Amino acid sequence: MAEVGRRSLLSCPVASTNLRTERLELRPVRDEDIDRILEYRNLPEVTRWLLRTDVDPAAFRAAWRRSAEDPHDHRVAVTRDGVVIGTVSLDVRTSMGQPGTPPGTEAEVGYIFDPRYGGHGYATEAVTAMVSYSFARLGVRRITAGCYADNLASVRLLEKVGMRREQHGVGNSWHAELGWVDGYTYALLAEEWSKQP
Ligand SMILES: CC(C)(COP(=O)(O)OP(=O)(O)OC[C@H]1O[C@@H](n2cnc3c(N)ncnc32)[C@H](O)[C@@H]1OP(=O)(O)O)[C@@H](O)C(=O)NCCC(=O)NCCS
Repeated sequence: MAEVGRRSLLSCPVASTNLRTERLELRPVRDEDIDRILEYRNLPEVTRWLLRTDVDPAAFRAAWRRSAEDPHDHRVAVTRDGVVIGTVSLDVRTSMGQPGTPPGTEAEVGYIFDPRYGGHGYATEAVTAMVSYSFARLGVRRITAGCYADNLASVRLLEKVGMRREQHGVGNSWHAELGWVDGYTYALLAEEWSKQP
């Protein structure tokens, strides 16, 4: 189990993501976690700003199983005192570029937390740990995240983690209730991360 501080990662197993922060544990999702995640995943306050709104339980379970076999998929369950309180996804991919582009150096991060555990900084703590882990252990050089501009909790979280807003897409994102709305893309380079205080 690795201890993950804001900047440091002491050690970690190679095969799967197992991290520990001050208050949280980040570990692969287990089959028995799925029912617990489904307790909050389809709540209106959770789905309001998600691209995938309601998820079908069977398809959801199958997707988690598939992801466990994908070496580029580093999604984790976040637990507090043994209870799953959220998930963080991290998909490693190859950046755009001409032939010769180094593979697998960019990652997209995402996060969904149970609102019952909201407002304690847990999501920020978990995402920070995953960012640190990606740069330190996965050979990632650039992390991105996208959100609706009006998803204020997500915007705040990304800015607290130290990510830079590099795109404001005016009317670029469809929302089922609101129609075309603005979206943001955030990014962070490993070199920016290492320079942060
Ligand atoms: C985004 C999400 C993970 C944030 O969870 P959280 O428990 O609020 O996260 P944290 O406690 O770590 O911090 C969030 C920050 O946003 C702020 N925040 C939360 N809700 C806010 C709101 N409605 N308006 C403005 N700021 C808000 C918090 O105050 C906190 O900032 P602070 O520490 O400066 O006070 C959670 O809201 C969630 O799971 N939402 C549903 C799924 C989702 O939208 N995921 C992101 C898709 S892009």
